[in-house]
Amino acid sequence: MSRILIKTPKEIERIRDCGALVAETLAKSKEMCKPGVSTLEIDDFVREFTLKNGAIPACLGYEGFPKSVCTSVNDVVTHGIPGPYVLKDGDIINVDITSILNGYYADSSETFFVGPPKPNASELVVTARECLFEGIRVCGLPNARFSDIGAIISGIAEEHGFSVVRDYCGHGIGRSFHEKPQVIHYRQMLPGPKIENGMVFTIEPMINEGSYKTRLLADKWTAVTADGKLSAQWEHTIAITPHGVEILTLAR
Ligand code: MF3
Ligand code: CO
Ligand code: CO
Repeated sequence: MSRILIKTPKEIERIRDCGALVAETLAKSKEMCKPGVSTLEIDDFVREFTLKNGAIPACLGYEGFPKSVCTSVNDVVTHGIPGPYVLKDGDIINVDITSILNGYYADSSETFFVGPPKPNASELVVTARECLFEGIRVCGLPNARFSDIGAIISGIAEEHGFSVVRDYCGHGIGRSFHEKPQVIHYRQMLPGPKIENGMVFTIEPMINEGSYKTRLLADKWTAVTADGKLSAQWEHTIAITPHGVEILTLAR
């Protein structure tokens, strides 16, 4: 039976180093999310920039995933595969980057507007971002439990009439991509495990404009909303330290 791993300050330092590179790669990807740019071009950039910086794109070949980054446009909830699709005004795109630097993983994503945002897309993306940061905040409160994350996120999403995806979760992370625990973003009936010093995990809520239900495309990766409405996601890798909760995927 595997359990939630506790990381030493040295290990957290390694994940933070990787996180800084992920943040820089994500910021540069944001600049590329303009009308006329294909998701393949974003993939090429992420792969080359990651390798140039001495790191490995974790997605490439992960359980057979064919590209170096996930690009999830509009009704794509998560795990969109870069391809010939060309971004256009009014699209929203989540770029989800995971790198491995010196054996340690860090994982972060943001949803960007392509051209001027439409009002409904704007409310969804801003709300998804707020869900992430409120989820992070509650992890730093005394006696926090993993179930507190889903409680706060569900409340925020519901205030806006949005829903929280249930089919995909956050995860512990460190020397491997997906470790214990599963970080659930929706409200649960039972209290989850305690959040303790040395834990490192992602929070990555996917917030849907309509129903929370998802559907998997024939490529076995791309998850879309069942109702075809928009979905937005934001993700950080965080650590619990004696000084509180720390976001590890920040640019330096
Ligand atoms: N980065 C995603 C996550 O947040 C996982 C992508 S796995 C891939 O957990 F294979 F699709 F790349
Ligand atoms: Co990710
Ligand atoms: Co993740």
